[in-house]
Formats: sequence, structure tokens, C-alpha cells
Amino acid sequence: VQELKDSEVAKTFRKAINRKEGIFAIGGTSELSSEGTQHSYSEEERYAFVNWINTALEKDPDCQHVLPMDPNTDSLFKSVSDGIILCKMINLSVPDTIDERTINKKKKTPFTIQENLNLALNSASAIGCHVVNIGALDLREGKPHLVLGLLWQIIKIGLFADIELSRNEALAALLRDGETLEDLMKLSPEELLLRWANFHLENAGWQKINNFSSDIKDSRAYFHLLNQISPKGTEEDQPRIDIDMTGFSEKDDVKRADAMLQQADRLGCRQFVTPADVISGNPKLNLAFVANLFNKYPALTKPENEDINWGVLEGETREERTFRNWMNSLGVNPHVNHLYGDLQDAIVILQLYEKIKVPVEWNKVNKPPYPKLGTNMKKLENCNYAVKLGQDAKFSLVGIGGQDLNDGNATLTLAVVWQLMRRYTLNVLEQLGDGEKVVDDIIVKWVNMTLANAGKSTMISNFKDKEISTSLAVLDLIDTIQPNSVNFELVKRGMLSEEDKLDNAKYAISMARKIGVRIYALPEDLVEVKPKMVMTVFACLMGCGMKRV
Ligand SMILES: *[C@@H]1O[C@H](CO)[C@@H](O)[C@H](O)[C@H]1NC(C)=O
Ligand SMILES: *[C@@H]1O[C@H](CO)[C@@H](O)[C@H](O)[C@H]1NC(C)=O
Ligand SMILES: *[C@@H]1O[C@H](CO)[C@@H](O)[C@H](O)[C@H]1NC(C)=O
Ligand SMILES: *[C@@H]1O[C@H](CO)[C@@H](O)[C@H](O)[C@H]1NC(C)=O
Repeated sequence: VQELKDSEVAKTFRKAINRKEGIFAIGGTSELSSEGTQHSYSEEERYAFVNWINTALEKDPDCQHVLPMDPNTDSLFKSVSDGIILCKMINLSVPDTIDERTINKKKKTPFTIQENLNLALNSASAIGCHVVNIGALDLREGKPHLVLGLLWQIIKIGLFADIELSRNEALAALLRDGETLEDLMKLSPEELLLRWANFHLENAGWQKINNFSSDIKDSRAYFHLLNQISPKGTEEDQPRIDIDMTGFSEKDDVKRADAMLQQADRLGCRQFVTPADVISGNPKLNLAFVANLFNKYPALTKPENEDINWGVLEGETREERTFRNWMNSLGVNPHVNHLYGDLQDAIVILQLYEKIKVPVEWNKVNKPPYPKLGTNMKKLENCNYAVKLGQDAKFSLVGIGGQDLNDGNATLTLAVVWQLMRRYTLNVLEQLGDGEKVVDDIIVKWVNMTLANAGKSTMISNFKDKEISTSLAVLDLIDTIQPNSVNFELVKRGMLSEEDKLDNAKYAISMARKIGVRIYALPEDLVEVKPKMVMTVFACLMGCGMKRV
């Protein structure tokens, strides 16, 4: 019951976030009105993100040409137009996503800027940002609504990275009576944050909140939250900070919010919100404010000596994360936080069928909210339909039934998802070619032929070829598709250690994204020669290569 309530809260909350609040319309500028659409953007977001970026990249030598940006002007939109800030922010949110060496920092021409923007966009989609309908040109021109939309996604991914049980076991302190760790693991980061705030509010004897919107407007919950989480001087490296609660009884909302933010400032957490954003209950910016508080001062202790089955707490595998990022980058709704749990009603799977051009009859689909009684039956029906569509699409689904998806059976769900991703990847090829079924052999032949024609000595025998772990074939192929793009002085050859291989692989993956290839695979997939992900790398390179012929 509690779980249901949490997700209902999250739903209305998400709706509130999506609703445009405090929007600032750009009226009558020639360029936008000539497009026939008028886009608006939130000045509050601009202000918040600029300050966040200024702090995050303050010391980065590669950003000094644009930092600090003035949060009160439109300078952000110009500053992001060479792609460097975006690359840096992506890499901060998911460390090591972008190989430093692939960013064009010095010589800035339209071409090298385009490359940076390709790198940023393709890397953003690899970490799960929904970047369909945003092109390098939009960023080049600094289209405000698109820039802010992308930045919010990148920032949010970074803020949410550790709000996840397997990465932060102390979150188990949020378990309620009768709940198991598995129940808690099903919650989205937004739900966990709300739980976290309420955990501390309860300890403070203050009333629960249901959202970071209307319920925090008077700053009083925030005062209590800050007071609970501020360091108590019990840890060596964190001197005690006592929150000054005098502002709590301030009569005026603005003054109270301001006093609260002064206390947040003493914790180094005055980020994302102004007093006005608190008073208006801006859901997006207040969510970010709270997430940052959580990251800096979780103030939770991992429960000991209790009947908690820690065995269920397995971190996400790399493959699971890649699948999830791929889905999210296509903009599936709801956002997938947990690969198995979030697919149990097949709604996301059905959306993925549409992405691979398998028509879905939506009138046959049960959509949420599901009735209280028979919820699971409705979900199971969807799963059965999803399996049927797979059979029609000639997927290999031997032994897989709707029940398995509905159960969240890992092996079988992965099997379905992989076939979706594989088909998605190959569709890119079919769109370019003559509609012929492109199979692994054809890709391998194309790779061999292309490398040989360019006088490269590398080749691959199949997607399990151990030689792939050096990434040399990938780098040669990139250099063939876009001549002289690879700096071979940076590439390690000969007897390679694991570290050397990883170094080459990071360079290869970022280089591929830089020449315009949307690759979801990770460097480790090349080093370990994971055949599925290796296949997607070569298939996407082939797609790019054929487009250029
Ligand atoms: C990306 O992050 C990694 C790890 O934090 C770092 O070593 C690397 O230099 C960063 N790259 C960029 C482009 O900032
Ligand atoms: C926040 O929760 C309160 C109840 O605690 C509710 O009255 C209010 O409508 C909610 N606001 C939003 C924006 O969801
Ligand atoms: C998932 O399905 C496979 C194949 O039917 C089965 O062997 C396995 O036990 C199932 N896993 C779970 C957790 O039920
Ligand atoms: C690719 O090249 C290797 C080496 O020449 C060869 O063994 C393999 O059969 C080729 N594969 C295909 C599909 O052409």
C-alpha cells in the first residue's frame, strides 16, 4: 500500500515538474517566429544551472574562456555553443564518459565545433539523456529551451547517481516497518529523496511532506531538514555546524526563505533555488536542491543487526545499465530507473517496438493507472501482447512467455530487450541500404573490406575476436570513415596491458561519438570483447560509413 502511495506521489510530482512554471516567453525574435513556433524557457532554470556549472567547472582549465558565466544574462547559451561545457558536465555526471583527448579545445572552426557538439550529444544519449530532436545546430545556435532541457537531464543524472541502494547502503535506514530491501529498491530516486526528507522531518517531529513543491514553500520543512543533516562534529573531517533556526519564526515568506538559504549556504549547499523558487515551489529546482543536500549530507546510518537480506542488493550490471540508457535516450515514458521492475507492465517494451517500426495497436494495451483490483492481470495482458508482437517480428523467443516479463525474470527480460536493441541498431543500416537483412557476417565482411581498402592491417574474424580488445580495428575503421581523424600517437600498440587496452578503448568510443556515431557501448565492452555490444559498435560504424559513401 505504501509503495502505491509513493508512486502516486511521484506521479503528480513528475507532472508538476513537467509543467512549465515561471516561464519566460521569447517573443517576436525574428528567427524563432519565422519557424512558426514560439518557445519559452524558464529564467529561474537558467539562473540555477549557470550557478551550478560555474561552481562545478570553476577550476577546469579548459573552461576558463567562458567561466564564470553571468547568471543574469543569456551568456549561457553562447557559452555552450562550442560544446566544451556540455562535454565537461556530461563527464562530471557520469565520470569517464568522455575521453579528454577527443575534445577540440584549441583550434575552433565550424568543423571542430561540430565535432565537439557531436561528441556531447552522442555521449549525452549514451548516459541516458533523451536527445531526439536536438541537433548540433540547435546547440550551436544556443536555442534556450533545448539547451536548458539538455542541461537539466545531464545535471539530474549526476545528482541522482548515488540515490540508489546498491551505491549507498545507508539508504536502507529508510526502510519502514514490514518492508523488505526489495520494496525499497523499487523506488525511483525522486521517491527515495522524498522518503529521505520525511525520515529526517519525522526525527525532528515535523509533519511529512508529499512533494518538493507546495509543501516546502514556507521553508519550515527545509529548516528542520538542514538542522537534522548538518554535521554534528562526530566525524573527524567534518567540523560541527549548528543551524541557526531564528529565521524559522520569521513572519515574511521571503525573509524566511532567505534565512533558510543562508543556513544552506553555511553547509555549502546554497544551490539551484532562490528564495523566489522556494516560495513558488518550483518543483524541478527544489528537487535539485534537495538532491544536492542528500549527496552532501545524507546523515543516514546503515542499519545493523536487523533482518535485512543484503543478498538481494546487487548492483546493476554494465549491460543492464547500457540497455536502460538506450531506452531512456529514446524517450520512453515512464523513465526506466530499474530495468526489470519498470518493464513489468510492458508499456516501455511496447514503446520500444514502435521505435523499431513494429506497429503497436494501443487500443489493445492496458494503460496506467491500473485498477486497484486485478492490476497484475492488466500488466500480464500487456506482457502477453508484447511477446506476441515479438513473435510476429520474428524475434527468437523460445521459452519466453508474458509471465516471465511480468515476473521481471532477469535472463528472459534481457533476452527480449537485447533483441529490441539489436533490431534497432540494424534498422539504422537497413534505412541506408537496400533493405536487405543485414546480419553479423555482412557487417564483419564490410569491416574487413573497408579496412583492407584503406590499407589498414587490422581485421576481425567475428564479434568474439579477442583482437578486438585492443580497439585497434575500431580506431582504424574510424580513421577510414573520417580520414586523419585519429591521432595515432595516442594509440598504444604491441603487447598491451589491461590498462593500455582500456585507454585505447576509451579513446575509440569517444572518437566514434565525435565523428557522429551514436554508440551506447562502453570501453569495457571492447576490452572484454562482449559480442553483443561489439556488434553494436561495428554496426553503428558501418551505418555511419555507408552514409558517407
Ligand atoms: C572525465 O572524467 C574522468 C574521471 O573523472 C577524468 O579522468 C577525465 O579527465 C575527464 N574528462 C574530461 C573531458 O573532463
Ligand atoms: C503537494 O502535496 C500537498 C499535500 O501535502 C498537496 O496539497 C499539493 O497539491 C501538492 N502539490 C503538488 C504540486 O503536487
Ligand atoms: C527465469 O527463467 C529461467 C528460464 O525459464 C529460469 O531458469 C530461471 O529460474 C528464472 N529465474 C527466476 C528468478 O525465476
Ligand atoms: C575477415 O577477415 C579475416 C582475416 O582475413 C578472415 O579470417 C575472415 O573470414 C573475414 N571475415 C569475413 C566475414 O569476411
